[in-house]
Amino acid sequence: MWDYTDKVLDHFRNPRNVGEIEGADGVGEVGSLACGDALKLTFKLDSNGRIADCRFKTFGCASAIASSSALTELVKGKTIEEAARVTNQDIARYLGGLPEQKMHCSVMGREALEVAIENYRTGRTSKKILEGKVVCKCFGITEQEIERAIRDNHLTSVEEVTNYCKAGGGCGSCIPEIEALLARTRRAEPEPAPARPRKLTTLQKIRLIEETMDREIRPMLKRDGGDVELIDVDGDRVLISFRGMCAKCQVAEFTMKDVVEAKLREFVSDSLTVEEAKA
Ligand code: FES
Repeated sequence: MWDYTDKVLDHFRNPRNVGEIEGADGVGEVGSLACGDALKLTFKLDSNGRIADCRFKTFGCASAIASSSALTELVKGKTIEEAARVTNQDIARYLGGLPEQKMHCSVMGREALEVAIENYRTGRTSKKILEGKVVCKCFGITEQEIERAIRDNHLTSVEEVTNYCKAGGGCGSCIPEIEALLARTRRAEPEPAPARPRKLTTLQKIRLIEETMDREIRPMLKRDGGDVELIDVDGDRVLISFRGMCAKCQVAEFTMKDVVEAKLREFVSDSLTVEEAKA
C-alpha cells in the first residue's frame, strides 16, 4: 500500500475539474493506455488571458488522478506565462508530496500542460510528439525526456529515473543507456551561480545586473519572442525597457515584478526595485 498524504487521497476520491472543455484554447494529450497512464488536459482562457477553466481526463492510478486534479487547480487563474512555469515538483508539493515511485505521475501532468500550452501558442498537434531517440522502448521514453527528468529533479540513480519517468521499469535492457545519460547530464550541469558579493559599488551592481539579465532573464523572455534592456540604475531603482513581444504584452507588469525584479533580487540585491523607463 502506498503511503499517500491526506491531500492525495482527497484529490483521488474527489477529483476536481474532471472532464473536457468544448472548444478549448489549449489541448494536451500524453501517455498511452499501453503504458498504463494517459492524460488529456484542456484549458480555456478568459478575456484577460488568464486560465478560466482547466479540465482533465486520465487513465491511471490514484496518484495520476490526484496529480491531474492538483494541476488543474494550480493553473486556474494563471496567465499562460505563469502556467508555463509550473513544474512537476510544484504538483507534488501542492499534494503534500508523492511517493518517490509515483513521481512520474507529476511529470505526466507537467508534460500534458506543456503540450497544451504549445498547442495554444502554435496551433500544432495536441498530442505529445516523441522527439529524438527512444531509449526505453517498453515505455516509449526518449533521451530528451530522460535528460530533462534528471536535470529538473537532480536525479542521481537509475531507480530515481524510473520513479520519475518510468524509463528502465520494464525489461531493463535500457539501463546501461540510462546510466550513460546520468553520467553525461551530471557532467554538463552548469556551474552554480556566483555567490553575491556583500557590499556592491555602483559599477559592481550594474555589472551584476547585466550578467543576471543575460543569464537568468533574457533567455526566458526570448523564448516568447521578447527581450529587455537595462536603461539606468539609480541607487536601488533599476530602469528597464521591454522589447519585442514583451513591449506589447498585456502582462508586462507581471513580467517586470515576478520575473525581472524577482531574479535581480535573488542574484543582485534584495533591495532593488524595477521600473519601466518612461519613453
Ligand atoms: S526498454 Fe526500458 S525497460 Fe525495457
